Amino acid sequence: MDAYLTTPHGALFAGDCLKLMAVMKPQIFDCIFADPPFNLGKDYGNGFNDQVGQAEYLDWCQHWINEGARLLKPGGAFFIYALPELAVKFAHFMSERLTFRHWIALTMKGTYSRGRKLYPAHYALLYFTRGEPKTFNRLRVPVPTCRHCGKEIKDYGGHRDKLNPRGLNLTDFWEDTSPNRHKRYKVRPGVNELKLMIPERAILISTDPGDFILDPFGGGGSTYQAAEFNHRRWIGIELYDCAHIRMRLEENLFFGVGQPPTFNVNDLFLTNEDYKDHLLQRVTG
Ligand SMILES: C[S@@+](CC[C@H](N)C(=O)[O-])C[C@H]1O[C@@H](n2cnc3c(N)ncnc32)[C@H](O)[C@@H]1O
Repeated sequence: MDAYLTTPHGALFAGDCLKLMAVMKPQIFDCIFADPPFNLGKDYGNGFNDQVGQAEYLDWCQHWINEGARLLKPGGAFFIYALPELAVKFAHFMSERLTFRHWIALTMKGTYSRGRKLYPAHYALLYFTRGEPKTFNRLRVPVPTCRHCGKEIKDYGGHRDKLNPRGLNLTDFWEDTSPNRHKRYKVRPGVNELKLMIPERAILISTDPGDFILDPFGGGGSTYQAAEFNHRRWIGIELYDCAHIRMRLEENLFFGVGQPPTFNVNDLFLTNEDYKDHLLQRVTG
């Protein structure tokens, strides 16, 4: 398999994630982070058609979710970022093979209400594991302060002095993760890359340094940057324009883009013999 780009920690493949995932060995990843297209007719600026029939879209999603579950190590974590309307369906697919951990709600700003509905104010980050989690790191966040006056927002019922000096426990409600809307912070104009913090937290919660992460929908490459910054190994896939991911990594990594990975990429893929067995298992099982 020829990668589009490599670093000592990772490899990015230019291609269709479903095709590539189908030829990977089972149980190789410690964490999968997926931020798929939502089938809303969005222009990704790269030729991707983000509007097919809903049944076709959900069928496709079920396929890559099943492949993802196959690729997870026992105890590995699978995160999917989605609109609540899609997340309920994805959760159903995931729960056929994986164990539910959390529906993390992330505040969404700058939206508007449509029709006879409430004002949408959150995205979902689904967090499932393959059985009991093999890694669960408790994260802490800074005590929230007012962005105008700098003072702390809550008084903690007079028990402020009892708070852990390293900050508050991260909850399943993230209020600091709105998308990068200003073009100054974007890698590719017209695309809402996730804030780095979102894949980064998922990675930090569920993996240790050296662990292996897959993000099958590269986009602007935030997961790969988060993996690099935190000394995790990674595999990326993007069907359309990979050039902006290269640019992002070149801008943010001091060295390493273009160097060979410190692992054998081919070890991740099924051999011809494995592949025949794998097909047979699918047909019979
Ligand atoms: C929502 S974006 C991901 C953004 C990314 N999480 C970030 O923060 O930069 C989804 C990406 O998936 C890509 N994509 C769509 N279908 C794909 C497929 N079958 N295989 C791989 N990538 C695909 C699109 O081109 C788009 O760039």
